[in-house]
Amino acid sequence: MSSRALLVARTDGETTRLRLRDVGLLRTDLRILREGERLAFPLTEIGTVPPSWGEVGVREFASVEPAGPRDYRDLLDLPGIDRDALPRSFDIVGDVVVIRLPEALLDRRTEIGAALLRFVPSARVVGVDRGVKGTERRRDLERIAGEGGWSTRHRENGLDIDVDLERAYFSPRLAHEHERVAGEVGTGEEILDLCCGVGPFSLAFARDGRAAHVTAVDSNPAAIELLRRSSARYAFGSRVEPRLAALEEFLPDAPPSDRVVLNLPLEGIKYLPSVATAVRPSGRVHYYEVVPRTALERRGSEIVRSLGRPGSWELVERHVVHPYSPRSDLISFTIERAAE
Ligand SMILES: C[S@@+](CC[C@H](N)C(=O)[O-])C[C@H]1O[C@@H](n2cnc3c(N)ncnc32)[C@H](O)[C@@H]1O
Repeated sequence: MSSRALLVARTDGETTRLRLRDVGLLRTDLRILREGERLAFPLTEIGTVPPSWGEVGVREFASVEPAGPRDYRDLLDLPGIDRDALPRSFDIVGDVVVIRLPEALLDRRTEIGAALLRFVPSARVVGVDRGVKGTERRRDLERIAGEGGWSTRHRENGLDIDVDLERAYFSPRLAHEHERVAGEVGTGEEILDLCCGVGPFSLAFARDGRAAHVTAVDSNPAAIELLRRSSARYAFGSRVEPRLAALEEFLPDAPPSDRVVLNLPLEGIKYLPSVATAVRPSGRVHYYEVVPRTALERRGSEIVRSLGRPGSWELVERHVVHPYSPRSDLISFTIERAAE
């Protein structure tokens, strides 16, 4: 855009900027231009510039991009609804955005969806997340803005993972946990990823080049199919063996392993006695469970007891992965089998 301009030496730049600003002569909708050793400041039309400040001319300037909103709620004006009643957080999975809405906001979901679609640059579709359901923990989603389905490719810890939020479980909130456990894996380990979903743990274990073999087990055919697709993308994918099976049929013949992940947070406990028989001496189990905050202190020892003989297992670490409900958290327990 063309504008009156003040041309000064670069060395006088900051003094000039402050002078012009203080007298209201500096245009803030245009970018200051650099011309070799000179700067061109865009000037407002009102007011005369003292000749001693520099040479006045005309220049073409680029516009200053207006600063985008920092919060999707800045794009919403819902009469009768307090901004603080709107959820602050939402998940981004590939080009899909999902948000949980309280009952009272459901009739405003179209406006909320439109605001999220504008706010997230990579968003193609926005859905209301009505929770994960059934054994396969599939998400119940309703599209509220944008187009297309729930199949996408999500980038996590440098990996491209095929996801279909409606057909198989995936949560971007576990990214740190996937990476953390992968960081523990030692060279040549044989690993079981039980209830692997679309395989973010397995892919991270194989990617780091240390795991010799990862058996990834899930009873949901869609999850196993998506894992096959993701691992086919990488040379290291040959070290991941996706297995479509229920734990009930897989565990009795599970191969001896150095590390086992069991991520079935609401009912995994019933499988721990059979998981224990698959773990080699000094091997570890990474077990995930939703635990009420009031029960956290005693839960570790209950889990250790469910694995087997007293003294043969030890809880080596425990931490909160993320809050699950107002009174419970998803907890990561790391339990180690004694050396023989
Ligand atoms: C919480 S998700 C796992 C998520 C995955 N580990 C991750 O980090 O993204 C639980 C998975 O367990 C699977 N599942 C549930 N019951 C099972 C069973 N009895 N045998 C095998 N897989 C089961 C579901 O299909 C689902 O994919």
